[in-house]
Amino acid sequence: DMALISRKGSALVRGIHEKQKRDNSRQRFWELAGSKLGDILGVEKSVDEIDADTVVVGEDGEVDFKGNARFSQHLAVSDFTKSKTISQQRQNLPIFSVRDELLQVVRENQVVVIIGETGSGKTTQLTQYLYEYGYTVNGIIGCTQPRRVAAMSVAKRVSEEMETELGDKVGYAIRFEDATGPSTVIKYMTDGVLLRETLKDPDLEKYSIILMDEAHERSLDTDVLFGILKKVVARRRDFKLIVTSATLNGEKFSNFFGGIPIFHIPGRTFRVQICYSKTPCEDYVEAAIKQAMTIHITGAPGDILIFLTGQDEIEATCYALSERMEQLISSTKQPVPKLLILPIYSQLPADLQAKIFQKAEDGARKCIVATNIAETSLTIDGIFYVIDTGYGKMKVYNPRMGMDALQVFPISRASADQRAGRAGRTGPGTCYRLYTKNAYENEMLQSPVPEIQRTNLGNVVLLLKSLKIQNLLDFDFMDPPPQDNILNSMYQLWLLGALNDVGDLMDLGRKMVKFPLDPALAKLLLMGEQLECLNEVLTIVSMLSVPSVFFRPKDREAESDAAREKFFVPESDHLTLLNVYQQWKANEYRGDWCTDHFLQVKGLYKAREVRSQLLDILKTLKIPLTYCGPDWDVVRKTICSAYFHNAAMLKGIGEYVNCRNRMPCNLHPTSALYGLGYTPDYVVYHEAILTTKEYMQCVTAVEPHWLAELGPMFFSV
Ligand code: CDP
Ligand code: MG
Repeated sequence: DMALISRKGSALVRGIHEKQKRDNSRQRFWELAGSKLGDILGVEKSVDEIDADTVVVGEDGEVDFKGNARFSQHLAVSDFTKSKTISQQRQNLPIFSVRDELLQVVRENQVVVIIGETGSGKTTQLTQYLYEYGYTVNGIIGCTQPRRVAAMSVAKRVSEEMETELGDKVGYAIRFEDATGPSTVIKYMTDGVLLRETLKDPDLEKYSIILMDEAHERSLDTDVLFGILKKVVARRRDFKLIVTSATLNGEKFSNFFGGIPIFHIPGRTFRVQICYSKTPCEDYVEAAIKQAMTIHITGAPGDILIFLTGQDEIEATCYALSERMEQLISSTKQPVPKLLILPIYSQLPADLQAKIFQKAEDGARKCIVATNIAETSLTIDGIFYVIDTGYGKMKVYNPRMGMDALQVFPISRASADQRAGRAGRTGPGTCYRLYTKNAYENEMLQSPVPEIQRTNLGNVVLLLKSLKIQNLLDFDFMDPPPQDNILNSMYQLWLLGALNDVGDLMDLGRKMVKFPLDPALAKLLLMGEQLECLNEVLTIVSMLSVPSVFFRPKDREAESDAAREKFFVPESDHLTLLNVYQQWKANEYRGDWCTDHFLQVKGLYKAREVRSQLLDILKTLKIPLTYCGPDWDVVRKTICSAYFHNAAMLKGIGEYVNCRNRMPCNLHPTSALYGLGYTPDYVVYHEAILTTKEYMQCVTAVEPHWLAELGPMFFSV
């Protein structure tokens, strides 16, 4: 401990005093509040169920602290980071100690793999080192991310570190949003954006170096990029590629490029104590809430990170946590330590996302409730407790529904270890696994199945076909997708008229690929041109490309539902979206108007922006905007032409079956067609979602003879 004191200086001593003061008041608080609180929170119960078991996650570079010493360590470290300047913080990152060696391997090799723990500085520092070294003389530095949130937040951080405006020297590009400029030399982007750039510039001439970040995630677009960039590397001797990964699967990447060097950034992580649940957990959301409250009341300082599966669960959990905090506050006269509850998921507006990086006020504890977005793509300092529910959402091709669906799955052991590791970044931490040790050891997969092997490949096929790759089965995939997946995706593109009978790209397909949209949405736009209602369809496509614009606050459900119903166009959810947008436009795109009508202002602004970008693409293709006026039947017919593969027919009240495979699919209670006494015989839907049962999302009534006319391969009169 002496060594530590001398290293951390007076911050540690201060920390110990602080700790003793707080510890005493916490202890008193707990005694006074006593059993009553235990009842409210079920605290004792959840503590009992936990079976403690210490394992070391990652390398252990520090002394193992126990008891009080461990507590003071928490305070010391966080006090320490707070007072540091940005440049000191940069120099304190593990990657800094190997800066020169790194630049040397990059100089001596065209392609390298770099492995380093999450938080070691790969994403934020590597680009800057390369910039400082001069790699932007003949091109710019690109860095790909599988997630939009990461691309945005990292670009923001790096622009701060480099003291430049975001969008100037450092920028980012995600679908429908380009925050780069003429002087941008470090560009963060989603892997999907770079993939689309290869359509216009197959050799990626404007880049001198590309960092494929988070390669371990094995996102669909990253996997396709691997094959494409391998060719660029062979064609351009002046081009360099760096593949980075947070896990130890570097061999695979290295072998793919013919045995390139693997560079390890030395780790600097702390012990993480793992606690398993003794019995399988029935309600992991409830268990997570209890565990978080227990930690907050009884645990030493340190922020909490909870892993859940998706937006709804996260919002419900945040709500429940704040409710229990209120209960706690009203049931005692003692001061209750503050808990700052923060959600994070990909659809959360950017300004709210940024909040997770802010420091909580003194004495308050942060509790971040996240999807697996916080597993590796975002590094949040100060986390000492991780609560891992053991589940995550994955996009999986569901043969029963004939399409991709986001489904909840148990995570893999690799993901579980990543999640636990988040607790050991700033000091020794604890991870509560809400599943049994047996489940971890015997039920979980070793590592996740790459996305390319489990999802629909419609977009990928279209893209590779436009890159003139004739035989997709020959493409250089690191892990080839199952042949059935490729064939099935080709079949769907054939249905849409994008491919001809022998699998070659048709004119329609060539146009479809110009839009950063799913094939069916791109077709919807192009059919709008043919059926002369492009203006209307363009709005619908834009509205479908943003998160739902309807706002339903927790305590004002009835009021907001009534507001929503006022927009309903009884035969169609698509037309309801069109109606919302057009009314918003008629009200001068006003923000207060949105608020009055329970609409998400930001969502509508985003839709407007998406619309204008799609309009730009239409202009470059010289496709003029056409208007159909007040008669919206033709719009429904256009929707039918792009979605006849998602047709369903009436079976009972509110019950439909898919026309092709007879699978049941239900109207969602939020649909305009629900409960209005109007149930058409035939409908098409945008997508199916699987929750408690199979629901159709965004539904439009269609005439049966349209189906026969537009989808003759399935339907006849
Ligand atoms: O990519 P890797 O996981 O190796 O680390 P990184 O994302 O470069 O993060 C390095 C450090 O930068 C983190 O420990 C954070 O302290 C800081 N950071 C931040 O403050 N805000 C961000 N948006 C991203 C990183
Ligand atoms: Mg990173």
